[in-house]
Amino acid sequence: MTAQKKRTVLVTGGAGYIGSHVCKELHHQGYTPVTYDNMSKGHQWAVKWGPLVEGDLHDSKTLQQAFDTYQPIAVMHFAASIEVGESVEAPIKYYRNNVGGSLNLLQIMLENNCKQIVFSSTAATYGAPQTELIDETHPQNPINPYGASKLMVERIIRDCCLSDQLRFVFLRYFNACGADSDVEIGESHTPETHLIPIVMQAAAGDREKLYIFGDDYHTPDGTCLRDYIHVEDLAAAHILALESLLSGATSNEFNLGTGQGYSVREIIQAAEKVVGHAIPYEVHAKRAGDPPVLVASSKKAEQQLNWSPQKNLTEILTSAWRWYQKQT
Ligand SMILES: NC(=O)c1ccc[n+]([C@@H]2O[C@H](COP(=O)([O-])OP(=O)(O)OC[C@H]3O[C@@H](n4cnc5c(N)ncnc54)[C@H](O)[C@@H]3O)[C@@H](O)[C@H]2O)c1
Repeated sequence: MTAQKKRTVLVTGGAGYIGSHVCKELHHQGYTPVTYDNMSKGHQWAVKWGPLVEGDLHDSKTLQQAFDTYQPIAVMHFAASIEVGESVEAPIKYYRNNVGGSLNLLQIMLENNCKQIVFSSTAATYGAPQTELIDETHPQNPINPYGASKLMVERIIRDCCLSDQLRFVFLRYFNACGADSDVEIGESHTPETHLIPIVMQAAAGDREKLYIFGDDYHTPDGTCLRDYIHVEDLAAAHILALESLLSGATSNEFNLGTGQGYSVREIIQAAEKVVGHAIPYEVHAKRAGDPPVLVASSKKAEQQLNWSPQKNLTEILTSAWRWYQKQT
């Protein structure tokens, strides 16, 4: 095996939002990221730092060819369907893609003796919060098929850990946001369901206004609080997680957030400062299943991975705005 092959990481979903930022960081850290993506939601322009293998998680033949060609030392598994609302409408699609696709990937990994995986999990595996800050010991009771499908994958990976000595790191992101500092890549989902890019669309006049769903929650200004974490901070955590596995650490799981909640109104006000003008919005009724507050405790990642988020809200919004303007 060449030195190059020893540093190759298979990145499923590497043409998507978070995966592409992680590919850039992998490249900067001396790894070769091989993107494996069916391009259902991915972008050709986002694959700049290593080869692209166009294939589906369910396509064993193409997956096997990717393992034969690149012999990855580890897998970072981002590929998934990610829209909570759609998962309620189409649960089978979510279980098929997220659970079924992951099963196939794990089987091929084990057949190829590739036994290290960093899995993109989510705050949605926790469900309704029972504590102000959610740490990794919080009960996992997902309230939608998306969160349930991700929790099932966690369970399957844990079982493979017992049976096949697979080692894993689960990274449970809170609200991923922001864009690459060099403005080369950024968030581009269709349909867009995430608050910050929607705020940018309204700021640019590409959307008449944005909706605030509920302003009478038990929060300081009545709107929901979320924990917004910059995608480059997420990318840094992935490198640390990978390197912990490569250095032989045991399997582990970490929340990734800032520990600081911002309300929808605070996001709009902060975005208005960044873009320099008012952003039109309208208050609507609450949506079912939206917890008032979702904020991470990331102490464990700070202590055990030596990770800490570097980007504040202004930096998040500034990078998102620069990326939005570049796209349009
Ligand atoms: N965006 C967030 O705020 C957030 C929060 C928590 C967790 N996550 C998790 O992070 C991961 C990445 O999210 P994202 O926002 O970058 O999403 P994304 O949609 O931008 O990227 C997902 C990528 O996976 C690919 N893909 C989907 N199904 C596939 C399949 N069957 N075979 C091959 N490729 C497939 C898509 O084409 C896309 O490029 C997901 O697993 C998601 O659950 C995201």
